[in-house]
Amino acid sequence: MKKYNVAVVGATGAVGNEMIKMLEERDFPVANLRLLASSRSAGKKLKYKGQDVPVEELNKDSFKGMEIALFSAGASISKEYAPVAAREGVFVIDNSSAWRMDKDVPLVVPEVNPHHLKKDKKIIANPNCSTIQMVVVLKPIHDAARIKRVVVSTYQAVSGAGHKAMVELAEQVKSLADGKPAECKVFPYQIAYNVIPHIDIFLENDYTKEEMKMVHETKKIMGDDSIQLTATTVRVPVMRGHSESVNIETEKHLSAADARKMLAQAPGVILVDDPANKKYPLAIDCEGKIDTFVGRVRQDESISNGLNVWIVSDNLLKGAAWNAVQIAEELIKQKIV
Ligand code: A2P
Repeated sequence: MKKYNVAVVGATGAVGNEMIKMLEERDFPVANLRLLASSRSAGKKLKYKGQDVPVEELNKDSFKGMEIALFSAGASISKEYAPVAAREGVFVIDNSSAWRMDKDVPLVVPEVNPHHLKKDKKIIANPNCSTIQMVVVLKPIHDAARIKRVVVSTYQAVSGAGHKAMVELAEQVKSLADGKPAECKVFPYQIAYNVIPHIDIFLENDYTKEEMKMVHETKKIMGDDSIQLTATTVRVPVMRGHSESVNIETEKHLSAADARKMLAQAPGVILVDDPANKKYPLAIDCEGKIDTFVGRVRQDESISNGLNVWIVSDNLLKGAAWNAVQIAEELIKQKIV
């Protein structure tokens, strides 16, 4: 089997770290692994399959000889370096928001739109974490009953804001337990024992950018601009695992029992739905798993064709690192790379 030269940009970050672990766990056919980060991390060593791999400073020559590059170092780095890598013939799978809405860039969730991957589209965008786990569940429902409108509220883990945000939550919990004030550097307010209805910047329409990402990215991935969606995105004091309450209005009627049956079969989805035995998806149970978990499937009794579901997934895995590595696997499967 052919092996590939793979670069990870942002290797020292929360998602980068998971990307390295995912390549290892999936036994991805890696020939050479190049780990890239800022000058601050140059010379550090990270483990891959028991070996110490040095971290190199990212520069314009970093992509020579590479075939696949997984990016997770923020949008400005992706804007600058993804085209550099693409010009070298490298397939870039970019976890930032930099390229997602570019009409020439496929925005891919392998369970939903693997056919958007093409040989001449060297830059591929990994969608927003909240969108990925939602569309994996929306896809089979849309195919069966055509979705008209979605109302989603998210309960997002701090790891979505990076490694420093995880440290901030842990330190705040400790400080407060010691009777000291909570210091806020990453989040605008104390996140420990709190819920903040604000992720990313506010836009002119008073929605946040995170909320509008869900609107636009869902339409693009599902290939259907007619799906109406409104979102409220909220940060909660959870380390890993985004949860979502999703209300779905469909054109055709779909019973909760049929939806449950369908979701139990859907790729990448695990149904956990047994209210009588208090079984439903929980963020702490989903940590470290690559699947998307769905439960609390029930009829919306306020309209004729509606469902409510509760969706949970590890935002660092399906929401980021796993979806990226899964796209890379798909490039191989489709003989694109
Ligand atoms: P570094 O650790 O050297 O700062 P997170 O999302 O967890 O905060 O991680 C961000 C990732 O992006 C880190 O790996 C970080 O590397 C990397 N990064 C940040 N700025 C740059 C830069 N200017 N060049 C390359 N990598 C960068």
